[in-house]
Amino acid sequence: MYTAVELITAKRNGHPLSTDQITWLVNGYTSGAVLDEQFAALAMAIYYQGLTDTELLALTTAMLNSGATLNFSDLGKPTADKHSTGGVGDKITLPLTPLVASYGVAVPQLSGRGLGHTGGTLDKLEAIPGFQVDLSEAQIRSQLLQPGGVICAATAQLAPADKKIYSLRDVTATVDSMPLIASSIMSKKLAEGTDTLVLDVKTGSGAFMQDEEQARQLAEKMVWLGKRSSVHTTAVLTRMDTPLGYTVGNGIEVEETLEVLAGAGPADVVELTVTLAKHMLAGAGIDADPAEHLNNGKAMDTWRAMIAAQHGDPDAPLPTATHQHTVMARETGVLSVMDARAIGEAAWRLGAGRQVQGQTVQPTAGIRLHAKPGDAVTAGQPLMTLYTETPEALEPAEQLLGDATETVNTYLSPPLVIDVIS
Ligand code: URA
Repeated sequence: MYTAVELITAKRNGHPLSTDQITWLVNGYTSGAVLDEQFAALAMAIYYQGLTDTELLALTTAMLNSGATLNFSDLGKPTADKHSTGGVGDKITLPLTPLVASYGVAVPQLSGRGLGHTGGTLDKLEAIPGFQVDLSEAQIRSQLLQPGGVICAATAQLAPADKKIYSLRDVTATVDSMPLIASSIMSKKLAEGTDTLVLDVKTGSGAFMQDEEQARQLAEKMVWLGKRSSVHTTAVLTRMDTPLGYTVGNGIEVEETLEVLAGAGPADVVELTVTLAKHMLAGAGIDADPAEHLNNGKAMDTWRAMIAAQHGDPDAPLPTATHQHTVMARETGVLSVMDARAIGEAAWRLGAGRQVQGQTVQPTAGIRLHAKPGDAVTAGQPLMTLYTETPEALEPAEQLLGDATETVNTYLSPPLVIDVIS
């Protein structure tokens, strides 16, 4: 009835596609009738031409309907979920899930693996000896009842169109497209069947949407898509110019998570965890100050139960790297830039992420920061320590970090949370 070439041509020339045409393209691509190269061309046409609201809704709905959906309405408790558009050192899902679950809310965090310079929640958790990320739907349900939170891989049946389109975008320079990100995130989040969704939309050097105005538009579109599906959706627009916390990698991010769950940890990680938790709890009708459960150990208890439920050993020491190298400050002054993208790419080179699809990551690889923007540094003092199992990766990683930092005379830290859109 249609041909892929005719629809790609129309989109390329700036003509909107109908809901029927978009559904045909997504179904065709999921089944294999529309080819990789055709969908790649379509993605590039969308990258340049954008999508109208009607097209965006059609794309998201077609991707959502490409597979199974989950329904947790019979659990007898509210459900809340969070999604980040991706950042560096972004370990927030780790402390956030047990924190929100410790208030009696079911938190089904179906998460992904690392992508390019951004880390993956599942890769981080797999640094914990024994931890299992592949769970059946029955296991997910049982864990949502007790201890209340689960962080696991999305099943293959959930929004399969997104999995296929996402892999294609990753290798065709079409990741950083507002409508493609919005439809990708919202199709899988709506398929998870949550009542409340909190989106952490990042902007800045380490984000996919580097421009703040574009990130804001992305947030608005996703909130609009969520509300159309009757999901209580809030977007928090946050800065991602500097990595979150002092660790970027896998096991070392778990280590920092444990500090946060023990009532300490870096101020930015705590601030974002508490902010997002507050919105998730509010969506579930709970008015609380989530910092309380970080300070009284309740979030830590839930974390330990969650790790044990997924066959991890919460007491096992985290693995440490066989090779390390410390990078020193070159100048004296106040640190003003610690470029999230360069640091994310360097950590990825060290083995924290994948060079090719399906590769295993090093649980020990990553970068520990010894200073953050706003700190006074002296030339020659340690700035970052690089960790890896592959010593030949140290030099290229250090090269990537060559211009990652800047120092000035005075510096005012910009706020982490820019805005809340609901
Ligand atoms: N995260 C997603 O899930 N999809 C995107 O397209 C970008 C970030």
